[in-house]
Amino acid sequence: MSVIRLSRASVGQEEKDAVGRVLDLGYLGMGAEVQALETELQAALGTQHEVICVSTGTAALHLAVSCLGLGPGDEVLVPTITYVASFQAVTATGATPVACEVTADRIFIDLEDAERRVTANTKAIMPVHYASDSSDMAAVYAFAERHGLRVIEDAAQSFGCERDGIAVGATGDILCFSFDGIKNITCGEGGAVVTGDPALAQRLRDARLLGVERDTEKRYSGQRSWDFDVSEQGFRYHMSNLMAAVGRAQLAKLPRFAERRRALARRYRQAFAGSNSVRLLDFDFEAIVPHIFVVRVNAGNRDALADHLRAHGIECGIHYKPNHLLTRFADGEARPVAEAAYAELISLPLHVELAEAEQDRVIEEVLGFLRGTPNA
Ligand SMILES: Cc1ncc(COP(=O)(O)O)c(C=O)c1O
Repeated sequence: MSVIRLSRASVGQEEKDAVGRVLDLGYLGMGAEVQALETELQAALGTQHEVICVSTGTAALHLAVSCLGLGPGDEVLVPTITYVASFQAVTATGATPVACEVTADRIFIDLEDAERRVTANTKAIMPVHYASDSSDMAAVYAFAERHGLRVIEDAAQSFGCERDGIAVGATGDILCFSFDGIKNITCGEGGAVVTGDPALAQRLRDARLLGVERDTEKRYSGQRSWDFDVSEQGFRYHMSNLMAAVGRAQLAKLPRFAERRRALARRYRQAFAGSNSVRLLDFDFEAIVPHIFVVRVNAGNRDALADHLRAHGIECGIHYKPNHLLTRFADGEARPVAEAAYAELISLPLHVELAEAEQDRVIEEVLGFLRGTPNA
């Protein structure tokens, strides 16, 4: 029995050719290929915002928090259901992530709960585009304005999505994308910060290269700085030409990837539409490019369903254990909505290479298993 993967990259000859081109140049580090990817990303987003490519999505988030000057004593509001990367990126600066409740219908940061957690030390809010959705972002910006906060959108899962008819990333304060191995497009690993704040963009560009001032411009013209100055903390977070070459090949395929992911999500939605035992999140699935496909089942069934699927060669995931339940971030306070959601969430296989026959097998096993359970 062949295993049906939860997620995987879709790569082919184009990526091989792109990597080969960089290998032949004999310089694999950061240079013109990264500049080209940044230009192409900016065009794909249809924005004047600046795009700064980095080594991972986590690095993008860490750089964003760091370059805003946040550190010990500062607080950042984060939904508790997110990948631990969001939380670790905040603590990496010495600042404190404040775990907020999520909404039951979209697993998005609950602003009523966040409101109660605002203090004089709150400096930023980090909404997460959970499962690629960010439809409630206008309320986040109104909230941020009311409290004088910066907004760092964790857009790791939403590259290629639209919100209100424009690309996610075309507008907004600071957005962080991930191009890791299984995202909507991949560079192998990789990420990008997008911002409309030119001074911040310059700090980000320097900070990704150990704080070496204006080294980016040198590297884009095939040189590097020797007589340089450093005045801020920096990190070794730049992207390499090798990664950028893969990313450029992937970006060219985005329209096909987006259509395929949407089509698969549509098939899941149709299959589960009549089911009482499988509940969908309340997304506009045609506006997003779904990175993962999350459904909710009754809590009493979730683990047994996951075991059943795995026993039948179908991978599944749990996105995510709430961060306030992790030792590092525990504060002894319950977040009941997030905890209830966590007990019910299960992610089903979704990737560009998933065949319809495979997806039919997933649907059959999910519905078949739930039909036979008393808790359905
Ligand atoms: C919500 C979220 N935030 C942050 C990240 C971190 O991105 P990366 O894996 O590129 O470091 C991820 C991806 O794993 C993610 O899903």
